[in-house]
Amino acid sequence: MERDTILILDFGGQYKQLIARRVRECQVYCEILPYTTALEELKSRDPKGIILTGGPSSVYDPASPTCDSALFSLGVPVLGICYGSQLMAHLLGGRVQPASVSEYGRTELTMDAADSALFTDVPESTVCWMSHTDRITALPDGFRATAHTADCPVAAMEDADRRLYATQFHPEVEHTPQGADMLRRFVRDVCGCRGDWHMASFVEEQIPVLRERVGKGRVLLALSGGVDSSVTAALLSRAVGKQLICVFVDHGLMRKNEGAQVRSIFGPEGGFDLNYVHVDAKDRFYAALQGVSEPEQKRRIIGEQFIRVFEETARSLGTVEYLAQGTIYPDVVESGAGSGGATIKSHHNVGGLPKDMGFRGIVEPLRMLFKDEVRALGTELGLPQGLLYRQPFPGPGLGVRIMGAITPDKVRIVQEADAIFQEELRHFGIDTGRGQFFAALTDMRSVGVMGDHRTYDCAVVLRAVLTSDFMTATATRLPYELLETAMNRIVNTVPGVNRVLYDLTSKPPATIELE
Ligand code: XMP
Repeated sequence: MERDTILILDFGGQYKQLIARRVRECQVYCEILPYTTALEELKSRDPKGIILTGGPSSVYDPASPTCDSALFSLGVPVLGICYGSQLMAHLLGGRVQPASVSEYGRTELTMDAADSALFTDVPESTVCWMSHTDRITALPDGFRATAHTADCPVAAMEDADRRLYATQFHPEVEHTPQGADMLRRFVRDVCGCRGDWHMASFVEEQIPVLRERVGKGRVLLALSGGVDSSVTAALLSRAVGKQLICVFVDHGLMRKNEGAQVRSIFGPEGGFDLNYVHVDAKDRFYAALQGVSEPEQKRRIIGEQFIRVFEETARSLGTVEYLAQGTIYPDVVESGAGSGGATIKSHHNVGGLPKDMGFRGIVEPLRMLFKDEVRALGTELGLPQGLLYRQPFPGPGLGVRIMGAITPDKVRIVQEADAIFQEELRHFGIDTGRGQFFAALTDMRSVGVMGDHRTYDCAVVLRAVLTSDFMTATATRLPYELLETAMNRIVNTVPGVNRVLYDLTSKPPATIELE
């Protein structure tokens, strides 16, 4: 059975990903395409519905992005949002003009058509999120206004016979509390999507596609132990079994036991059918990093060494036709790639994977999935929850959590201290899902006293920040007892540490990591 697809035409709106998220939350598959996509291409995808996003332009500006007006006569339901609604009005013979008052933000909304398929359960008076300076001043033929605000007579309009709908406001944002319901009505009721897009069907659908793509070729994947590469490995193993070769490079800067964990899941003892290569490159990384204390230089060395080790390992495997990557949808959308052509994810984790290794192609089976879908897929494929919901970990690993020159002893200290901190966070029931919580090692040494002895040892710093975008972050108010217990355990059981500090700084001015 063909899957139902909603296409989202992007006119430059900042919320396009959010629209896609809301549609997927209705268990309906969708894709974002540039507004320049030809009508024939849209038709060939056999969409159940099309959504036009917002955008910063004005429809009456001749240089503004537009679409073929034949889009509205395909017989496919269309929902225009913000700029998309104005474009619909403009192209179908209505009028759009600058508004005397721009509406921005939370706005009272009055519904004028209780029988609208979009607004079935919406109360007569509600709230929406507006962001516009133009407005629709004359409806196209066949349309009726279905909602208004104080300054916007056409806050929503529709031609139910042609299944064309439009909202000046943004139903996709949380500030429109009924918005998710409106989008659900559109994709499920108006477009008739079944809502059967879930990860079991994704696996079923992808396996033959991946088999066909790869044929008898072999596929190489750099497994980092993170969510995306692990789920990529699990899915490809289901599709092509031993044709998949996963290379895990242990650079010696992992969290405690992490390398062993990856081996236990993907190695010969684990439940996956694949070829697993575990490269213990610790000594090599430590040697290259010896005496280097400048943060950017450390990063560069780690990235370079990674590529070298990976290349050497790949070369020793003979001819491998494909390179697999754990690229996910936000990477694709942010890189501006939209649909089509393989973009090589600039793997900031490892400083970029080699591009000239003679692969026949790149395989990116997650490139249409959001992070939570990747996690759901991982669950479907039998990966442990601890791996799927772990905190993000920087590519250079503990290299950016150890200030100054790296030594195996400092790595041991920070691993032990971090493991204790993580245990206490779990013990106190702290939800670490929305931030970064870790121990790091300062380059400070200070005097202490242990028993009757003077010590001159290191200071560990605990960092616990909440963040949604990793661009800004605030330190959390962890329970004092937690900090105290972690401190006690660390100074008592981790040799070489005589002080534990808590980092209160937000980002900015500090960064999340120490280096
Ligand atoms: P900062 O320290 O810049 O970190 O506030 C923001 C987020 O990015 C991660 N991070 C890195 N990830 N390579 C990575 O793959 C790096 O060099 C790197 N530096 C920071 C950091 O863990 C945090 O989540």
